[in-house]
Amino acid sequence: MPRCFVTRTLPFPALDRLRAAHDVTVWDGPLPPSPEELRSGVASADGLLCLLTDRIDDALLDAAPALKVISNYAVGADNVDLDAARAHGIPVGVTPDVLTDATADLTLALILTAARRLPEAAAAVTTGEWRTWEPAGWLGLELRGARLVVVGPGRIGRAVGDRAEAFGMEVTYVGRRDDLDAAVAEADVVSLHAPLTSSTKGLFDAELLAAMKPGAILVNTARGGLVGTDALRAALASGALGFAALDVTDPEPLPPDHPLLTAPNLLVVPHIGSATTAARERMADLAVDNLLAGLDGRPLPHAAS
Ligand code: DGY
Repeated sequence: MPRCFVTRTLPFPALDRLRAAHDVTVWDGPLPPSPEELRSGVASADGLLCLLTDRIDDALLDAAPALKVISNYAVGADNVDLDAARAHGIPVGVTPDVLTDATADLTLALILTAARRLPEAAAAVTTGEWRTWEPAGWLGLELRGARLVVVGPGRIGRAVGDRAEAFGMEVTYVGRRDDLDAAVAEADVVSLHAPLTSSTKGLFDAELLAAMKPGAILVNTARGGLVGTDALRAALASGALGFAALDVTDPEPLPPDHPLLTAPNLLVVPHIGSATTAARERMADLAVDNLLAGLDGRPLPHAAS
């Protein structure tokens, strides 16, 4: 019976389809397996269902001689060395589309939170700073007429743009060939939706953050590595950047004593873009579809590109 290693408990029915005809081992720790534990898990596996917290590299694939398919429980595949997988002849599957709405919804929630200064306003209630109705208290950005720059006009970026337009925002999409510096200079809000690759790593460095409109809002629900963490901290500390709302960080998770967290005007949530029951269930379905196809030697329905 083909063996599958699943690197985390997925509390969804999809795994039952896998168990029907495969010998399935699920890593049931509360944290991801260590590199050594992962290595031992894949040593005799035919199929691997992994998470974005698992680093799948050349050395790991060398240690998995029977592996026929890698199914990543995420739409991003930056945790997988795709060149190494290709060199080993192992297809890699991802889970597109099913998390687009969930991630776009969270992005809008972060844009609204930042625009209307909700963390600061909510804190004022508990600190006693809220003494009366203030004509000029906690004034924020009105979305209608404000300019949103979406960096990465893929499925999620477009879904964010559609939502923002419904709020009356002016939306500019910036792709690989567009002038990012010029676009961010005009933006009231910049929202990141590009994949993390060798060419996008650290894209928002000190220089690009300085090119942003003073007081602008930066939202990142893509990958933490797109933004230089030290540069972001400096831009927030100097007030050059008005607010950063992050679902993803570098490093991830961000330790509670990380210096970035001392920055003013910052909200960080723990990578919850796709965290709706519906999205996570459908991601499990797609991940199992990919795994079953790969184990059968069929093309993966949702292959990483
Ligand atoms: C992904 O799928 O890449 C998200 O970051 C987590 O769902």
